[in-house]
Amino acid sequence: MTNPRFITFEGIDGSGKSTQARRFAEHLRGQGQDVVLTREPGGSPGAEEIRQLLLTGDPDRWSPETEILLFTAARRDHLEKTIEPALTAGKTVVSDRFADSTRVYQGATRGDLRGMVDSLHSLMIGREPDLTFIIDMDPALALERGLARKSGEDRFEDFGLAFQETLRHGFLALAKANPDRCILIDGNRTPDQIASEIAGRA
Ligand code: ADP
Ligand code: TYD
Repeated sequence: MTNPRFITFEGIDGSGKSTQARRFAEHLRGQGQDVVLTREPGGSPGAEEIRQLLLTGDPDRWSPETEILLFTAARRDHLEKTIEPALTAGKTVVSDRFADSTRVYQGATRGDLRGMVDSLHSLMIGREPDLTFIIDMDPALALERGLARKSGEDRFEDFGLAFQETLRHGFLALAKANPDRCILIDGNRTPDQIASEIAGRA
């Protein structure tokens, strides 16, 4: 038996990550794999509570530094309570976002805090996914899709289109810097087309 894999989906808001993570998990289950589908921020009871602090309220509610600490705290709990126990039990873990989101959202968009993000990651998390799908798409279209959902968790989407453009470039740079684990996926297609490419490349 091969080692259980930890697979993540990344990309800008509204790029189709949740849709594709769900479909990919269903695909793996169809092959007989035991799969835990999870998400960040969140994925454990404590981290879901931190999620509410992060995603609701005024865009200026937290300083960039406080935000990094909260995302890292949520991730640590998610890792301890959900991801590591599942992998130890031989299950495949599929997560809608993980540490790459902090690298891009907090590390490169509101000042140059990437060094702080990386230090905290190695201190508190110290683990990378085996495989990451980065869904790339036009931010204007993605923003339209995302805001149409009206989830009430739009604190980051409220930063606007220029912010999403910066994020897109952050994710593209990350894919380029980590070709060993990152696969770039064109999100400007139908859900079926994207899902079949992902299933074929996993
Ligand atoms: P994310 O998790 O990246 O924010 P979602 O998977 O929640 O994205 O998708 C955002 C919205 O766009 C949802 O309403 C979803 O149904 C829709 N959607 C997802 N993928 C596609 C696609 N390939 N084409 C058109 N609409 C899509
Ligand atoms: P998510 O629920 O995946 O939003 P969406 O479906 O709109 O993509 O994530 C919520 C928001 O949190 C999203 O705007 C990205 C942001 N985020 C960070 O800023 N840093 C992080 O480390 C993570 C995990 C998410």
